[in-house]
Amino acid sequence: MTSLTLSTSSAATLRADAVVVGVAKGAKGPVVAPGAEAVDKAFGGKLASVLETLGATGADGEVTKLPAASGLKAPVVLAVGLGDAPAKGDGYDAEALRRAAGAAARALSGSKKGAFALPVADAEDAAAVAEGALLGAYSYKANQNGNSGNAKSGEKKNGAPLAEVALIGAKPRDKEFKAAAERAIALTAEINRARDLINTPSNLLNPALFAAAVLEAAKEHGLKTEVLDEKALKKGGYGGIMGVGQGSEAPPRLVRVAYSHPEAEKTLALVGKGITYDSGGISLKPAGHNETMKCDMSGAAAVFAAVVAAAKLGLRVNVTGWLALAENMPSGSATRPGDVLTMYSGKTVEVLNTDAEGRLVLADALARACEEKPDAIVDVATLTGAMVFALGHRTFGIMANDEAFRTSLHEIAEEVGEQSWPMPLPSDLRKSIDSPVADLANMGERMGGGLVAGIFLKEFVEEGTVWAHLDIAGPAFNESGPFGYTPKGGTGSAVRTLVRLAERTAAGDLG
Ligand code: BES
Ligand code: MN
Ligand code: ZN
Repeated sequence: MTSLTLSTSSAATLRADAVVVGVAKGAKGPVVAPGAEAVDKAFGGKLASVLETLGATGADGEVTKLPAASGLKAPVVLAVGLGDAPAKGDGYDAEALRRAAGAAARALSGSKKGAFALPVADAEDAAAVAEGALLGAYSYKANQNGNSGNAKSGEKKNGAPLAEVALIGAKPRDKEFKAAAERAIALTAEINRARDLINTPSNLLNPALFAAAVLEAAKEHGLKTEVLDEKALKKGGYGGIMGVGQGSEAPPRLVRVAYSHPEAEKTLALVGKGITYDSGGISLKPAGHNETMKCDMSGAAAVFAAVVAAAKLGLRVNVTGWLALAENMPSGSATRPGDVLTMYSGKTVEVLNTDAEGRLVLADALARACEEKPDAIVDVATLTGAMVFALGHRTFGIMANDEAFRTSLHEIAEEVGEQSWPMPLPSDLRKSIDSPVADLANMGERMGGGLVAGIFLKEFVEEGTVWAHLDIAGPAFNESGPFGYTPKGGTGSAVRTLVRLAERTAAGDLG
């Protein structure tokens, strides 16, 4: 794992493999961002024009490497684009810093130490640079081999991530900077934990193995856990989770993992969709739609990561995670289209399409979570392809039974640099999930399918419980090339939003 230190050294004198500077798009060509003064000085104050000659523009994510001028300890200067230079007097946007630091850290993979001399005007900027660098350095199990899931061997093995990030310009003895760095370290370690789980192939991460990973982390961080196995689920009447999981050789689990603080005034329940593989079941997905479905437990991974992060940060709030874990497979024991399930809440559901499985496992977990009367519930799920059509690959949808809560979550996501958008739950779509043989059908109107799924979930949330649903089907898994601090594969989408929600709840900022 990449380590982070706050350095008091100047960018010129710190021993490192490369010194990272920021370059922004100015009105008359690239401009060197604050923080790089010592580096610019070594270039005789001509760094901007050297960069321009090399073709640098300062565009977002652009990386330019050049040999260092004499007087610099590091042999290489890496200039990373920050996008448009801010107006005079304004600082750099936190997300621009996060992305630039991420792109730089990725470009330095294989190196030992990077000295980051990006603009840090305050602790918030330092947090953004730290987060971006630690997230951008991520590589899936790069240092492991054998049967670890990273089967790449020999020369093809993933390069080792940048080992050490030194932040220049952040004051190591300042309380705010120190806290920002500590928070960034804890938060990014948990986002990277979620990414590892998401990237782990389904043959190496089934529901039981996921539950075991939770138990291990829980022991380390003093979390309370409860795991319901298939026997307990059957006995407990969890018809949704059992119905989805019963076709697989790897039986389902419902995991409760709870962080609590002795002085907490509020309790947050987080519910995650944890389909360790979604084949579609008897309504089998065609080729072209199932290659990435190991990612269908991204919601559960995000919830798990957020609970551990809350514990690491010692937040004054109770956070209870519910992980609904199942593998959706077709077999002689699988649920058939047309079957009727009796759910944990007592409602019955006609399964019209076994590929609409996420809402079934979530329905049970939501109903169970409601029994504990939390102050709010947020579920996170790679729920519908329709949400990807609606919002694309980088933005998650937010639905809720409470408009103020939906707005808060949207603002929180924005604040932490996660793209999201509020979506409605129009009541006219409710009748499309009527069933002639059960209380509900698990599929309805195709148009607005993401909203239909949300409307289905709402049926399992107790009246009066504040609830929101994040459909992360788009941003959870990056199938194209890496960008900013986002790697290929599992992204850890929603973790930052959940952690900030927990922090806000602890601070008494919400309701
Ligand atoms: N896991 C999928 C949704 C998904 C699609 C996640 C693409 C990530 C990327 C979900 O279980 C699913 O199959 N949903 C169906 C629902 C339909 C059958 C009502 C869908 O969206 O097609
Ligand atoms: Mn499915
Ligand atoms: Zn699914």
